[in-house]
Amino acid sequence: MKDIAVRVTANEKLYDGAYIMTVEGDMPPFRPGQFAMVETPLGERILRRPFGIVDADDRSCAFIYQVKGEGTEALTHLRYGDALKVMMPLGNGFPLSSGKVAVVGGGFGVAPLLSVAKSCKAAGAEVRIYNGFASVEREMLSGLFAEYGTLTVCTDDGSAGYHGFPFAALESDMNDGFAPDVIMCCGPAPLMRAVKKLGESRGITTYLSLEQRMGCGVGACLTCTCKVDGHNKRVCKDGPVFLSTEVQP
Ligand SMILES: Cc1cc2nc3c(=O)[nH]c(=O)nc-3n(C[C@H](O)[C@H](O)[C@H](O)COP(=O)(O)OP(=O)(O)OC[C@H]3O[C@@H](n4cnc5c(N)ncnc54)[C@H](O)[C@@H]3O)c2cc1C
Ligand code: FES
Repeated sequence: MKDIAVRVTANEKLYDGAYIMTVEGDMPPFRPGQFAMVETPLGERILRRPFGIVDADDRSCAFIYQVKGEGTEALTHLRYGDALKVMMPLGNGFPLSSGKVAVVGGGFGVAPLLSVAKSCKAAGAEVRIYNGFASVEREMLSGLFAEYGTLTVCTDDGSAGYHGFPFAALESDMNDGFAPDVIMCCGPAPLMRAVKKLGESRGITTYLSLEQRMGCGVGACLTCTCKVDGHNKRVCKDGPVFLSTEVQP
């Protein structure tokens, strides 16, 4: 883990309230599913905010973010060349798999899954991706995901792709014979609960990436504590990725 001084290279609106930001600096290697604590232009006045690493190489890193409160609103004011600090990589990430992999994402939960699909594909896995959005206007990163596996875009309102939730699209493929060795999921809690139920009912190893409010991001403050197998664990340090059997999202 490193605290890196970076410069913003792009900060573009995907749609109202959603942005993709890329930064440039001396980036350390990361594992898919790890995250970063990103300084906002409000500096020391507020804590850094956690974001999934969409993709990174040794010089650059990309994040997508939803504007929620003052921290993410402040990020929207960043322009090309602005300086900030990013601490990364943090957390444990998803395991690499070379078998049959189902990647299931919902909304901004697709952010850390692009590199999961990319690395599993590079390891020789058969990757199927099920990404769900409220509507076609909210769809993100599909062109990139399609490079790393068979992509099913799902929309709640049926405005594009599969009409319904991504766990239902996965279940439908499983009923048609797709037998994943592992499911990797990140998204809203109802999606993760449905994926946990589906994976566990079929005996498939399932990993979930949890979201909690965070303070330090490095295991020191206990803000992000949750129950894992009945024991207190820190989502930032012991997660954010857990086996589905250990947690109740
Ligand atoms: C490991 C991890 C990875 C994340 N990755 C992404 C990502 O890739 N893209 C993205 O858009 N968001 C991501 N989030 C959520 C993001 O960190 C929060 O939305 C952000 O910190 C809110 O900051 P704010 O100052 O704008 O809002 P605040 O003013 O702090 O809060 C505004 C609202 O957002 C809620 N909120 C705050 N923190 C979180 C949180 N951690 N999870 C859920 N709700 C929260 C608050 O309860 C409140 O309702 C991630 C969170 C975690 C823990
Ligand atoms: S955010 Fe401080 S311990 Fe997890």
